[in-house]
Amino acid sequence: MAILKVAQLGHPVLRRRADPVSPEELQTPEFQRFIDDLIETMREYEGVGLAAPQVHVSKRVAVVESHRNPRYPEAPEFPLTVLVNPVLTPLTDEAIEWWEGCLSIPGMRGRVLRPRKVKVEAQDRTGAPTVTEVEGFTAVVHQHETDHLDGIVYFDRMEDLRELAFEREYRMHWAKPEDDDDEDENGPGGDEPDGEEPR
Ligand code: NI
Repeated sequence: MAILKVAQLGHPVLRRRADPVSPEELQTPEFQRFIDDLIETMREYEGVGLAAPQVHVSKRVAVVESHRNPRYPEAPEFPLTVLVNPVLTPLTDEAIEWWEGCLSIPGMRGRVLRPRKVKVEAQDRTGAPTVTEVEGFTAVVHQHETDHLDGIVYFDRMEDLRELAFEREYRMHWAKPEDDDDEDENGPGGDEPDGEEPR
């Protein structure tokens, strides 16, 4: 497996609508290897999600995964999921607020409101159709990654760009107390992502 180079904001690949993955293409060893690399790259950079356009591949596939420290049993966790050609449908008008981050926009956080619960229709890496309902943080990550497939980044979803912050300022002025604990874990001065933000 390989760690792939992550496209940074300003690269046109992040702004175009990605192409669907055909059943034939999905079955190829090359594409299966690409999915493995996407997973590997997400884990290397401690993201909780990564979409193919973020590694310069304009295809409708994304991976999501969140494993939290057992010290925080209340923290949001969800298993590794490969989303091929995902289609999301909001299931509620209720919004969830999250300070999102993105591997393609390093070092920043912004406050975004999204539907709290969504239906996710997609295919898995074998091409089998899947339908799930996700909510809360899991729903935020699924929406953030699916947005990447449509050339959308979280800035575009912000109601107020004044609620954009560098990581350090986010932690100083906006983070909730449990996020401070995470900072202790990572060590002072570390700017490693805490694994909580969508990527
Ligand atoms: Ni992102």
